[in-house]
Amino acid sequence: MTRTGRMTVASTPEELREARRPCPSPFGLVPTMGALHAGHAALVRRARAECASVGASLFVNPTQFGPAEDLSKYPRTLGRDLELLEACGADVVYTPRAEEVYPDGFQTFVTVERLSVPLEGASRPDHFRGVATVVAKLFLAFAPDRAYFGQKDAQQVAVVRRMVRDLGFPLRVVVVPTVRERDGLALSSRNAYLSPAERASAPVLFRALSSAREAFDRGERSGGRLRTAMRSVLAREPLAEPLYVSVADPETLEELGEAAGDLLLSLAVRVGPTRLIDNFLLERGRWETGILEG
Ligand code: PAJ
Repeated sequence: MTRTGRMTVASTPEELREARRPCPSPFGLVPTMGALHAGHAALVRRARAECASVGASLFVNPTQFGPAEDLSKYPRTLGRDLELLEACGADVVYTPRAEEVYPDGFQTFVTVERLSVPLEGASRPDHFRGVATVVAKLFLAFAPDRAYFGQKDAQQVAVVRRMVRDLGFPLRVVVVPTVRERDGLALSSRNAYLSPAERASAPVLFRALSSAREAFDRGERSGGRLRTAMRSVLAREPLAEPLYVSVADPETLEELGEAAGDLLLSLAVRVGPTRLIDNFLLERGRWETGILEG
């Protein structure tokens, strides 16, 4: 166990238990895979504002990476991550080793069955099983009262909420708006992989979502025509290859023929070799489209 200023860094379950014990309630948890940026910082600051104690995890979770996705290439920036977490006011940081989270012979997984299948799940079949399993283990290890997730990963939010209800975790899931660059590109550790030309193309995700939102606000309610609105913006960007565009129910993720109540616009696009995702959420008549930085 190490201490940097007023923050404790625990790297084993035993150290985490010891660091967690004296923390006053409510305890807020921010799970991350590190390579932290201003999007992660927004989660930690929100937790700091709402909770008496704040914990974060830095763990590149191997079970949520597919065989074709390069786990070893995931950016690792531990020193900077700890500085950012301290600056945002975290009290406890957990940095377990993979052998600790997945002991020899590990075979117990959490599967949120139907919500894991569409959208991201279609090209990443075991991804949400890995996410649900590690998030469940982090909830058991930290016993938080609140857990903070980004709207950026809308399907992850749906999966985690369903798991919390189904397994009866006694905590509240708090969803934080997507933090974006000034041109609309959602912050992501993957943005670092974009070449200058690809980076210039990448705001097309935001423009496609914006055009569907504008169509909706003009009265368009057909799911098919809202999808077409997104596709036609993407089609004008030569470096962008659409993987899916979706107009779905935000809770069940079922595709909508007709938009009635709440609504999730989401898409995945390959820009060069890099896969980017983004979404806008319409909830109780109000759009959540994220926050532009600067
Ligand atoms: P990671 O990709 O590190 O993201 C950690 C949290 O930060 C997630 O809740 C994600 O939605 C949020 N986040 C990422 N970019 C954001 C942005 N631009 N604006 C707001 N929030 C943003 O998501 C994971 O890690 C993992 O799947 C995890 C939940 C930690 C399980 O391993």
